[in-house]
Amino acid sequence: MSAPPPGGPTSAPSPEAPISTPSPGAVWQRPDVAHPFLDQRQTLVPLVDVQEDLIRRLLARHPRPLARVLDVGSGNGAMAELALALGGAGSGSTAVLVDFSQPMLERAGARLERFAGRWQTLHGDLSSAAWSQPLPAGGFGAAVSALAIHHLPAERKRALFGELFALLAPGGIFVNMDYVAIGGPLRGLFDEQLIANAVRAEHECGGTRSDEEVERDWADDSDEDRPDSVEDQLRWLTGAGFEEVELHFKWAEAAVFSGVRPAAA
Ligand SMILES: C[S@@+](CC[C@H](N)C(=O)[O-])C[C@H]1O[C@@H](n2cnc3c(N)ncnc32)[C@H](O)[C@@H]1O
Repeated sequence: MSAPPPGGPTSAPSPEAPISTPSPGAVWQRPDVAHPFLDQRQTLVPLVDVQEDLIRRLLARHPRPLARVLDVGSGNGAMAELALALGGAGSGSTAVLVDFSQPMLERAGARLERFAGRWQTLHGDLSSAAWSQPLPAGGFGAAVSALAIHHLPAERKRALFGELFALLAPGGIFVNMDYVAIGGPLRGLFDEQLIANAVRAEHECGGTRSDEEVERDWADDSDEDRPDSVEDQLRWLTGAGFEEVELHFKWAEAAVFSGVRPAAA
């Protein structure tokens, strides 16, 4: 999925500093990448409203109380907001937002203002199993993720599905809205549509940038996508122990799929 390009100079590591490989997706830790995405998310992401409406309905029809919700790669908590809003203002449901981007998590306060006292953030890097250590096993009625897990390599995705299974209460649901790998003639359509949405938004808000400038910005691929196919990911969910594994939505590289931890597990 395209991300706005990092702006400004990148500082070189000092000679003494150990050279470490940054986690995939680390570009989202930069405010100049995180903020433009958050500001334009609903306009840019193809069919985002349809996908979110589907997730809302899926969670609303889930037969067990959500109670505690985990937003995985939360950004500023779009999925947490969707889940917290389901129960109405008087609902006691709570959410934990997990992300490794401070600029993203810092924007959660504004987004989730009306749910004061019902959410918290956890700074965690999903590229290692250690991210889940502070969380209670079996504690969550739902884990929901949007546009985040595709940054992880295949083996980490597969392992993460197992970690999420362990965090869910029996009967808990995991829902993932993500950018997936596809072949065939529609390959690349998601990014093309995202860029077309960005150009249209620039015109509609009276922006001064040329179409080419906007295209150049959003065509940047420095957010290091590692998408895998839906077919592989559904298999990994089943392998992790999930039941009722379903693909609910697919449009080019956009997909929504879910699985349920068996009630008796
Ligand atoms: C495209 S944004 C989506 C944010 C949010 N879920 C949403 O739908 O608005 C991708 C998010 O995944 C997070 N992310 C990517 N790789 C991550 C990792 N290894 N650990 C934790 N968060 C990660 C980024 O920091 C960023 O907030």
